[in-house]
Amino acid sequence: MSEHEDPVAVVTGAGRGIGEAIAERLSADGWYVVAVDRQPEGIESFVSRTRPGGAEAVVLDVTDRAAVLAFFAGLDERLGRVDAVVNNAMWVHYAPIAEMTEESLDGMFAIGLKAAFWTIQGARPIMARRGEGVVVNMSSPAATRGMPGSSAYSAIKGAVSSFTWQAARELGADGIRVNGVIPGAVPTPGARQVVDDEGYEIRRKMSALGRLAEPVDIAAAVAYLVSPDARFVTGHLLAVDGGL
Ligand SMILES: NC(=O)c1ccc[n+]([C@@H]2O[C@H](COP(=O)([O-])OP(=O)(O)OC[C@H]3O[C@@H](n4cnc5c(N)ncnc54)[C@H](O)[C@@H]3O)[C@@H](O)[C@H]2O)c1
Repeated sequence: MSEHEDPVAVVTGAGRGIGEAIAERLSADGWYVVAVDRQPEGIESFVSRTRPGGAEAVVLDVTDRAAVLAFFAGLDERLGRVDAVVNNAMWVHYAPIAEMTEESLDGMFAIGLKAAFWTIQGARPIMARRGEGVVVNMSSPAATRGMPGSSAYSAIKGAVSSFTWQAARELGADGIRVNGVIPGAVPTPGARQVVDDEGYEIRRKMSALGRLAEPVDIAAAVAYLVSPDARFVTGHLLAVDGGL
């Protein structure tokens, strides 16, 4: 089987916000980027801005286990390698516990946590065959802080952190590293739907550096974690939050 000449990174939720910045950064660093999103516009626009042959857009719902496994099998067939998976996709709904619907809770759980199981199930055999690979999961400061309406989101991100430690232990035997990033507040399109200007002012003041995060700040941390410089870093959650 022939292998793609550049290392291959799969970035989920790459159509906008932090995921888009991660896709752009990894592309600039020389990765072949497979930009995954359930919406086509953002990932197609990313590919059109990228060097020819340096990226592809794949419309995929990461909650669909069978589709995710078929997607990785297809990548293996076409590219012969998958070196990094960034589990970034998320959908957020804030509500008091009393008002949380089953549909919202299931939706957040499926995208935020279960999808990371499916991508690892898909990528692990491909990575294990080459004896190396890296997974980066996106946790949140909300995992360890009380925030109004954030019980479901916080619980899922807490689970993402636990899953990251556990997966690092389990996948280490195959040479696969698993780490997480804890981004500070980034006013992305998704986050703007649940945090208003007042909320951002509170978050800005909470940061020791007195500012909010930018998508590129988070992308730089991911770029480090997937790079050979982090080859002995696994089971680590890297906070990129300006010192909350
Ligand atoms: N923005 C912040 O302040 C912040 C802080 C801490 C952690 N995070 C985490 O960082 C990650 C990115 O956040 P963001 O603010 O850029 O989000 P966002 O909502 O702006 O973008 C998320 C992307 O994921 C895609 N997506 C959603 N469901 C999907 C599915 N089922 N399949 C495929 N793609 C799907 C969306 O279409 C969208 O393009 C998330 O995991 C989020 O929880 C964000």
